[in-house]
Amino acid sequence: MNRKIITLTLLTALAMPMTVKAQQLRADNIDQIVSALTDDEKVHMLTGAGTGWADPDVKFPGIAGWTYPVPRLGIPSVYLADGPHGVNMNRYRDFDHFDYSCTTTPTSTAMAATFDVNAIGKMGNLIGYELKERGLDVILGPAINLQRTALGGRNQEYMSEDPFLSGKMAAAYIRAVQNHGVGTSVKHFAGNEAETLRKQSDTRATPRTLRELYLKAFEIAVKEGQPWTVMTSYNYINGEHSTERRDLVTDILRGEWGFKGIAITDWDGGYYPVKITSAGTDIIEPGSDQFREDLAKALADGSLDRNIVDAAIKRILEFTVKCPSFKQYKASNDIHRDEHLEWVREVGAEGMVLLKNDNQTLPVVPQKVALYGTTSYNFIAGNMGVGGTNGGAYHVTLVEGLRKAGFTIDMNLLRQHTRWQTEEDARLQSEASKDPIMSRILRPARAEELIPQEKIEVKEDPRMAQARQMNFNIGALMGNQAKPSTLSEQVANNDLAIITLGRTTGEGQDRNFKEFELRDSERKLIEVVSQAYHAAGKKVVVLLNVCAAIETQSWVGMVDAVLNVWEPGMAAGYSVADVLTGKVNPSGRMPQTWEVKFGDQPADLNFPSDYHPKSIMEFLGSAKMSDNPQKNEELVDYEEGVFMGYRYFTSFNKQVAYPFGYGLSYTTFAYENASLDPTADGFQVTLTVKNTGKVAGKEVVQLYSAAPAGGLEKPVRELKAFAKTKNLKPGESQTLTLKVTNYELASYNEKAVAWQAAKGNYSIQICKNANEVALTLPYKLKKTLSWKTTNSLALQAPLKEISLKKK
Ligand code: BGC
Repeated sequence: MNRKIITLTLLTALAMPMTVKAQQLRADNIDQIVSALTDDEKVHMLTGAGTGWADPDVKFPGIAGWTYPVPRLGIPSVYLADGPHGVNMNRYRDFDHFDYSCTTTPTSTAMAATFDVNAIGKMGNLIGYELKERGLDVILGPAINLQRTALGGRNQEYMSEDPFLSGKMAAAYIRAVQNHGVGTSVKHFAGNEAETLRKQSDTRATPRTLRELYLKAFEIAVKEGQPWTVMTSYNYINGEHSTERRDLVTDILRGEWGFKGIAITDWDGGYYPVKITSAGTDIIEPGSDQFREDLAKALADGSLDRNIVDAAIKRILEFTVKCPSFKQYKASNDIHRDEHLEWVREVGAEGMVLLKNDNQTLPVVPQKVALYGTTSYNFIAGNMGVGGTNGGAYHVTLVEGLRKAGFTIDMNLLRQHTRWQTEEDARLQSEASKDPIMSRILRPARAEELIPQEKIEVKEDPRMAQARQMNFNIGALMGNQAKPSTLSEQVANNDLAIITLGRTTGEGQDRNFKEFELRDSERKLIEVVSQAYHAAGKKVVVLLNVCAAIETQSWVGMVDAVLNVWEPGMAAGYSVADVLTGKVNPSGRMPQTWEVKFGDQPADLNFPSDYHPKSIMEFLGSAKMSDNPQKNEELVDYEEGVFMGYRYFTSFNKQVAYPFGYGLSYTTFAYENASLDPTADGFQVTLTVKNTGKVAGKEVVQLYSAAPAGGLEKPVRELKAFAKTKNLKPGESQTLTLKVTNYELASYNEKAVAWQAAKGNYSIQICKNANEVALTLPYKLKKTLSWKTTNSLALQAPLKEISLKKK
């Protein structure tokens, strides 16, 4: 500890009467407690008290952090664990024998793909329960930066390219977690759409673009979810670190949106503690002695406003008294593991998106199946980056899920793969050692595909020869060493081929565009397997075990069905089997546009995806670059403005592989009796959805609005409401009501410093997806409506945005 701070602590302690016990924190004496705290204690409370990452000798090993306690005033630490995909803490502790693993949910993208607030609410419910019963107070999630390009390193932690879908889903997650009396931290506020040099990169975007897209998700989540905490982001926004921007944290978040909780920094985010606290960011995580010294000095010499500090301390205490740790809640450590696995199974299946299903290839009855692709045997359930649950306890593999559902798995092929994987692991390890900086820390290199051959060269396992020499019982020693099968044998022995393509991603690193492309071995695998199975009149299904778009159009014609399963969480194999067999009819929809090739949308062109860090410090973002962000290389210019994702592709009429909102079903639906009625602050659409097919299923209804011409340039259509039916039996109908407020129709007018819903005729479009309008309804606003805002987030230098006019 800094010497000055120690002296200050001693003086304060001496000044206190020794006999009178200081009053203890209660919900109704917060102001008195603020006055009773010493400057040193306040400075400590403005920073985190530690993290459980490296030190095994803490209360909760592996958690992200906890707050500073002041026991003399009855202020406890409260404990923050990473999310958003479950509670992230160490599975084992050095000091006892228990298993503290928590349930791994589907990734945020997979949850958002359900287009169902109840489904994501179920996951929030599970997380809130486990958080509390593990003795913790806050989950560091949900994460709702937008999927601005397919290559964002944290796309799997984020929900969607669309702020409305992200915001609504996040609010449902937050409410469900907080129902348990524990908190959330919606993150990373804001503009953290890329990971490359994330602590130095400057997100340059107009106030309109920021407010309509990148802040909008947070606005909805904050207003409708009331999270206990918000985590600021690492990046700069228009030249200032987000966490040091008072206009962002105080004027917009608190002033305009009415946020009542505490704002915390991302871990080691921001460089200047006095600026951070002055901006209204309450806790600097995890904090450092240097930061505390700077804050103490500034508080003493008046350069840090005492009123700002006291307001922050008050908010921290208001937050603290809500936490289970303050209430001395006795956690049971019973996390309802089996029940939660079933919930994850259900929601994992619910988010899967059927992209192609020629001649009703799917569903299939359990049959003999050959699994191809290394990912089939190395299925990715989730757990990438801090958004994981430290591996969870286990995940149900694809093989296990299919076997349980009654499929017969080609075990010979499985054994070939197991052996191939061992060889590949050795190769990958030696590859990784050639790149010591990255060492594939976050994203292990992927194995090549094993391409099935017509002629098999049997290489004897060297251990076999050794064993033979030593005259051992080879069969018993080496297990079943059946001769590998040829491709024709595999075709003859199986009814169906399933190929899985996988992609991982993770924090701290964006994907490279090469990861969007298929590798040669993947393409070859699809070609070889499809030809052989089709020649025998058998079908080929591709599973996409991915977090964001990959290239599909060059190969999709070769296969019969494609199911995008995302990374569906701990029950992965069960969820996949449920959809393949039709136990669950797929009802997921794409929360992101899949483009034909990377580079098709302008946002791609301003994305730092080909960067390779030169040092580990640079990789971790700890290498401080120029203090003047304008001098840094990493300016990320959002030149596409509001034309990102489907807003670009629909407005500029550009072909996509799969549009936003797309997803097939095993049944068909009709929309009937649609009508639009005005409400006090907008309108509502009522319509009846009828299952016109032969099997039960759920339908997602998407409502988009198209603004009147004139005024600000707007995308062709924007999502304003969505709803999902229950599981409708064939012939069954359900009436849905979708509500929209006039405020939600508004655009941000920088000149007027206000949100404005322009007067005129709106076309309200009920769509199957962003590219397919099923029916339209007129809505008229007789006069322009305005909502004033603060004048915030101005650009420091002009930015050239694309425009429809210059098409
Ligand atoms: C991540 C956050 C995370 C925090 C604490 C940071 O590196 O960006 O999302 O919550 O660490 O683990």
